[in-house]
Amino acid sequence: MRTLLFPALLGLLAACHTPDAQHAPPTTAPTAAVTAPEETLEARQERGRYLVEIMGCNDCHSPKLMGPTGPYPDPGRLLSGHPAAQALPAVPKEALKDWALFAMGNTATVGPWGVSYAANITSDASGIGNWSEEQFANAMRKGWWKGLEGSRPLLPPMPWPNFTRMPDPDISAIYAYLMSTTPVENVVPAPVPPDQL
Ligand code: HEC
Repeated sequence: MRTLLFPALLGLLAACHTPDAQHAPPTTAPTAAVTAPEETLEARQERGRYLVEIMGCNDCHSPKLMGPTGPYPDPGRLLSGHPAAQALPAVPKEALKDWALFAMGNTATVGPWGVSYAANITSDASGIGNWSEEQFANAMRKGWWKGLEGSRPLLPPMPWPNFTRMPDPDISAIYAYLMSTTPVENVVPAPVPPDQL
């Protein structure tokens, strides 16, 4: 920290002693104190992979295989969302009065919002392969579907409200990792509104 703060401090002192500092245009150039050290793309992807793992994205976004202790992410279909071909059992409406339900595998959920399906977030075109990093940031931090302003808000249980303060370097790392994933073609079904269950 000391080595990072020191030049910034010097810069600040210099600015204070410059007679016309108040009239200087605001600088948008990043300072050593606020930017992360230069990271290679590989290092960024690796950090993104780590964040995706510890933040539990696979819990909902990866189809599962069944093991002796329950479902686990299918390594061949990581992060590809609810499988298009996987039909869901009928929703037990009686249970919905008091419960929200996860389908086996966690890729589909039903609750007061209807049925939501975890999105394909692999690098395929049916995933987020054609998204800009800005779209990704707006989906993660603002909860916009496809990251587009004016689209619909993302439905539960996507935990985007937990991500509103995620800093840019973390968004960039996750984006870099997701763009490097094996593309899995899978067009996830559209959500079902509650009155159409
Ligand atoms: C508890 C389940 C859950 C977890 C954990 C989760 N998601 Fe989601 N996510 C969803 C669901 C369900 C949707 C679809 C919501 C909808 O259709 O409105 C979604 C949607 C998204 C979208 C928007 C896709 C689109 O087409 O607009 C992105 C991007 C996304 N998730 C990324 C992530 C990342 C990255 C993580 C981990 C940091 C993560 N999600 C963790 C359930 C989850």
